[in-house]
Amino acid sequence: MTATREVAPARADDPASVAATARRLLTELPGPRSRDLEAERRRQVTDAFGITMPVFIDHALNALLVDVDGNHLIDFASGIAVTSVGAANPRVARRAAAQLERFTHTCFMVTEYASFVDVCRWLNEHTPGDFEKRTALFTTGAEAVENAVKIARAATRRPNILVFDDAYHGRTQLTMAMTAKENPYRLNFGPLPGSVFRGPTAPAHATPDGPGEALTQVEALLAEHGQETFAAMVIEPIQGEGGFIVHAPGFLTGLREIATRHGIVLVIDEIQTGMGRTGKLFASEHEGIAGDITLTAKALGAGLPLSAATGRAELMNAVHTGGLGGTYAGNPVACEAALAVFEILGEGTLLENAGRIEAAVRRRLEPLVALEGVADVRGRGAMMAIEFRDGSGPRGDLAAAAAKAANAHGVITLTCGTNGNVIRLLPPLGIEADVLDEGLAVLEASIRSVLS
Ligand SMILES: Cc1ncc(COP(=O)(O)O)c(C=O)c1O
Repeated sequence: MTATREVAPARADDPASVAATARRLLTELPGPRSRDLEAERRRQVTDAFGITMPVFIDHALNALLVDVDGNHLIDFASGIAVTSVGAANPRVARRAAAQLERFTHTCFMVTEYASFVDVCRWLNEHTPGDFEKRTALFTTGAEAVENAVKIARAATRRPNILVFDDAYHGRTQLTMAMTAKENPYRLNFGPLPGSVFRGPTAPAHATPDGPGEALTQVEALLAEHGQETFAAMVIEPIQGEGGFIVHAPGFLTGLREIATRHGIVLVIDEIQTGMGRTGKLFASEHEGIAGDITLTAKALGAGLPLSAATGRAELMNAVHTGGLGGTYAGNPVACEAALAVFEILGEGTLLENAGRIEAAVRRRLEPLVALEGVADVRGRGAMMAIEFRDGSGPRGDLAAAAAKAANAHGVITLTCGTNGNVIRLLPPLGIEADVLDEGLAVLEASIRSVLS
């Protein structure tokens, strides 16, 4: 594994393949042009934005990002689970471009357009739950979460919200209070909004006895503060930023049952897991449950800002007219991108690919669990992670060092976890098999190099 001039051989049958499907490092990373741009970035942009790789991107080729120095980087991040259909999908580009020519914005609260309604119809028809639904479109994931809380409070006339250990729901005032991790998400930003209570989860990898104890504690917490004071419980079906935590079987169905019994609105935050990422359109389908409200964002607009709250018609219509909205909510260009995403997902190939990605990741990374320092490989579909932990506890240092080594060799990886000890893989669902394998080989070598 060398850091420079790694050029995969062209395939004889396809001379263009080198451009489309090969990692290529022409310079060290970051290259000279990226370094110049980074210096200017430091002069102009707040330091408060963290950065995984200080590399500036020029264009994308499906699962490769091409930087301003001509390096081809393998994208295992998808802009944090956003570009599931690829970062330069021609169908998304065509629909968005055509819409840009027609009009860029009217504000749906001023005059309407059909694509907004079409996106809502698709979500009403495809989100889990065999009941009549309505959808509200917004712009960011956090905005969808905040609006779900508003809807649940208006519908139940109750104040309190139950969230969970290791949760991530966003960075706005309310959603950072719902997010579990203090640093960097909440630190110095208090006082936080009240009426947010945190319950335990039952991670499958740490709860061999199943979710019974965690569910008992959830019941106790609700009883302590009064079940009748809770408007909503909000849960990610696989926790993303918190460490790609898959819940023990029965945990989500247990929450569903508790919520129903106490008249609490169950909000399933599918913002990271949704739109095919886990091999089904929505991760809650793996457990056979439906939220009263399901939240989507990220992959919904393929990178154009779009989010949605889709839920029971009687909940969604419980809010007074004018109570929901936003200048940019359901922007027409983003709606066209979403309609392209729906067409692509409808063909089924990407959902199948998610299973292929999971199999390839498990084949390559599961043997590493035998090594001291590697504790677990977990996830579903194209949402996979490897956790670093040893007898001394979580090893965020190993995760950071391995991710950094992979980044230096042209594979964009992210860490996550409340202790930062997890490397997560979120490749575009259409990643070519050889690009995936090459990226995994680099990651494996990076992990072995920091463990040796
Ligand atoms: C599960 C989940 N909810 C909410 C959010 C917030 O979305 P946004 O960053 O678009 O506000 C995220 C973002 O990572 C997320 O993963």
